[in-house]
Amino acid sequence: MTKPRVALFPGSFDPFTNGHLDLARRASALFDEVVIAVAENSAKSSLFTPQERVAMIEASIRGLKGASAIHFSGLLVDCARRIGAQAIIRGLRAVSDFEFEFQMALMNRRLEPGVEIAFLMPSQEFTYLNSTLVKEVARHGGKVSGLVPPLVEKRLREKFAPPATNSRAASRKATGKAG
Ligand code: PNS
Repeated sequence: MTKPRVALFPGSFDPFTNGHLDLARRASALFDEVVIAVAENSAKSSLFTPQERVAMIEASIRGLKGASAIHFSGLLVDCARRIGAQAIIRGLRAVSDFEFEFQMALMNRRLEPGVEIAFLMPSQEFTYLNSTLVKEVARHGGKVSGLVPPLVEKRLREKFAPPATNSRAASRKATGKAG
């Protein structure tokens, strides 16, 4: 039996967007298994916990052949070795992504020459999309449908929901009434 071709698709995914989903679909057409790996120790401060991010990804990739989600800490190449990945997938949206991705790819290759780095381009409609922008829009009550999978949209709404205004306790406190 031939060895399954395994790709590791890492990122912060805070949160997972439709651009990420587009890349996961493209990777799944090329590899037998695609493991989407949420980095726990990203330098960025995150809105969602790694567990919340994995749960949102799992719901979003339901039905996608060979795809799964995990979270990892430590070096990406160690995660790649652990899961037996032959390739690391990264997305390239625009030239501005290239410099950082190139540095990271060469460092990862130096750390683990046995793992290939593969860049995939998302569909053109997602080239401007990133998780930071999505959070910014959602934080201010803007519409993010079509930019993120349905569960992510729901979780963002919950995160940024204004504090309950109709609680009786809150209104009693505001009016100074007892009971
Ligand atoms: O979605 P992001 O934030 O661009 O993903 C960056 C990520 C998580 C892939 C990168 O920071 C990473 O690989 N972190 C794990 C630690 C590591 O291996 N760092 C060295 C990379 S050269």
